[in-house]
Amino acid sequence: MAERPLRILSGIQPTGSPHLGNYFGMMKPAIELQEKGEAFYFIADFHALTSIQDRTLLRENSKRMALDFLACGLDPEKAVFFRQSDVPEVTELAWILSTLAPLGLLERCHSYKDKVAKGMTPNTGLFTYPLLMAADILIYDSHVVPVGKDQKQHVEVTRDLAQRFNRIFGESLVIPEPLIREDTAVVPGLDGQKMSKSYDNTIMLFESPAQQRKKVMRIVTDSTPVEGAKDPDKCNVFALYKLFAEPVEIEELAARYRAGGMGYGEAKKLLNEKLQRYFEPMRARREELAANPKQIEDILEEGGRRARLIARRTLDRVRSQIGLA
Ligand code: ADP
Ligand code: TRP
Repeated sequence: MAERPLRILSGIQPTGSPHLGNYFGMMKPAIELQEKGEAFYFIADFHALTSIQDRTLLRENSKRMALDFLACGLDPEKAVFFRQSDVPEVTELAWILSTLAPLGLLERCHSYKDKVAKGMTPNTGLFTYPLLMAADILIYDSHVVPVGKDQKQHVEVTRDLAQRFNRIFGESLVIPEPLIREDTAVVPGLDGQKMSKSYDNTIMLFESPAQQRKKVMRIVTDSTPVEGAKDPDKCNVFALYKLFAEPVEIEELAARYRAGGMGYGEAKKLLNEKLQRYFEPMRARREELAANPKQIEDILEEGGRRARLIARRTLDRVRSQIGLA
């Protein structure tokens, strides 16, 4: 295959407001990568249908996620930014992939099992979710997929399906690599579990500074008294602080933990200051963007047109390989 620029692709479901886990696990790495090749980022609204059956909510969530992603620094001059549903070709490719996917491949997916365990209705779409995700990735001939650790298995399913396809029908699909940053693979929530909207343990990027502060103060810590020496590597406050601070500052705080004499309240205060300063410019940009919703709609429509051209080409290639007209 001819050399072509690195193609980077990722998506996020519009199922709520983004939190620190989404930001450090997926959005920030994606934004940094937009400088490194041809980036394609989308709002996974087809996927969100597996859990949202309310048109107003779906529409509002999609708009807000687009606004938030742009506010965080996604640059539509550098990345193609679009709505998944503006490229209906992916559903056709998902169907084709489903005919290559043994049931067991999907049955093994943790994400499905976790969602059902948390009480989500297991509709067929929830079960076949990884097939649509595989189609999202393969239809753009993507090389790398920046995601948090919980999505790694889905990228592995995608690789497996692409390899099967290539074996049966001839080399055609690009085998993608997940890109998971070790330092932010799993951002902890207020309670120390993985931060996730389904655990009600999140700090959202754009909730009010007062709410964020209140949440920081609620972060669970152990009961070591103020005087006692503390282990920074076992502390949720420290784990979050590391996301925002410079290496020297991290070292300084770690030393204060180990020395004793500093309470967790003090560490929380430092974390809150960092967090507020970090998101301040994004809040400002968000306000500017929010004043012009038409501009966001235009960005998504233009992105959808560009994405769709590529998707159409891949799908035509695949159709001809498998014997469809
Ligand atoms: P949630 O668990 O809140 O429902 P999603 O499943 O919608 O989040 O995740 C969207 C993206 O954010 C995915 O790429 C996922 O891997 C990443 N992500 C979510 N939570 C975290 C976390 N706590 N740490 C790192 N990445 C995360
Ligand atoms: N499943 C991803 C999530 O829940 C969203 C997603 C859909 C995605 N299609 C994708 C991510 C393709 C990366 C590539 O976060």
